[in-house]
Amino acid sequence: MLLDRTRGKTPAPLIEKLPSPTPLDEVDPLVLLPRRLADRVRTAHRDVAMLGGRLIFGKTPAPLIERPQRAPGAVVSLARKAPHMTRTVEVVDVVRETADAVSIYLTEEDGSPIEFKPGQFLSVDVTVDGQTLRRAYSLASACLPGVPVHITVKRMPDGRVSNRLNDTIKTGDTLSVLGPSGNFTIEPRSLNERHFVMLAGGSGITPIMSLLETVLHHEKRSKVTLIYGNRGWDDIIFRERLARLSERLGERLVIDHVLEKPPTGWSGGEGLLSDDVLLERLDALGIEDDGMLRYFICGPTPMMEAAHEVLNRRGVDAARIAEERFTHPEDRHAGLGSAKTELVVISKGGSDHGVQVAPGQTILEAALAAGLDMPFSCAMGGCGACRVRQRSGDIQVEEPNCLSRSEKEQGYVLTCVGRPLAQSRIEVEGS
Ligand code: FES
Repeated sequence: MLLDRTRGKTPAPLIEKLPSPTPLDEVDPLVLLPRRLADRVRTAHRDVAMLGGRLIFGKTPAPLIERPQRAPGAVVSLARKAPHMTRTVEVVDVVRETADAVSIYLTEEDGSPIEFKPGQFLSVDVTVDGQTLRRAYSLASACLPGVPVHITVKRMPDGRVSNRLNDTIKTGDTLSVLGPSGNFTIEPRSLNERHFVMLAGGSGITPIMSLLETVLHHEKRSKVTLIYGNRGWDDIIFRERLARLSERLGERLVIDHVLEKPPTGWSGGEGLLSDDVLLERLDALGIEDDGMLRYFICGPTPMMEAAHEVLNRRGVDAARIAEERFTHPEDRHAGLGSAKTELVVISKGGSDHGVQVAPGQTILEAALAAGLDMPFSCAMGGCGACRVRQRSGDIQVEEPNCLSRSEKEQGYVLTCVGRPLAQSRIEVEGS
């Protein structure tokens, strides 16, 4: 039915007819500063990391981040160039997307737009019951001049931050954020003619939305096929926005909604995005992999695993698959790493530094506490800034994280979500 619509046949009865579409239209900055100011910034950087570096994006419990008060007027413009530093942003609008999801429009503290790449996310610190918790929320806006920038937060069962934001956030509030971070992105080039297949489940649509709007704006000959799974029709985040975009772009954007609990008369895809359902939808949409398709997937872990299974079965090599995993922080488990303190030798800048990593500590936390100037940004496994090569030993890296299969096979680990299981050696490349 949706395919027929793009071919100009019968209109999809469950896609609402809407008004006319809305038009879419990193040098270390510290070296540029006086040494005293640079040192203060580095100290702030370490403090934030040491106090806030517990994971919140993966499998361990949400961290408790006791952050110091930010210095008055703390270098917002510098913070933009230094994504490892938290800063204050302004809430300029709040839009209810579904009963369980809210879009929060943001600007920098001085009113200027937040700069980001499509598909990136902000790390947001929210204090709940006296505890400051950090969560990652994708910037779901098209990355285009003049387009308001927003994150979209879906309420999660027992989600302390998502519920707080859904219930209380309002225009005029401020948020403490870090980033943008992440490499789940596309660099659009106007002359490209590409076909992207995007698979999204629930709030996994948020980075996908930014990616598809941005790339379809810049690449007039490229197309996107989106398979988007939700529980019901009213749970579809950006439903109307997608419908408007599809109407405007015609065959350049094919949207295949898959519903777990479809309404009466539904003739689209049904069920959870399992491997069987994904295979069926890809077949129904006539997606034949010609070795050139690029895949972007984001959603709950079971959907991600199903997507990998299906794409693997279809012979898609990992290099053409980009993924972003969003795991409910409350689902993470503690007890990772060694039960005793382990030595990690860090090769950096031609020198070796021995760091003792205590039980429960990440390598990054231990290294920063020891005074090492380590590379990092999101401190939660999502951006790859802390990527190092493991040279020996045994390091447990929490899943999910942003490392590709290829990077894992090459021996890369993330210090911000990495804990030694035995004495180990790592190398900070390029230092
Ligand atoms: S700092 Fe972002 S992945 Fe480690």
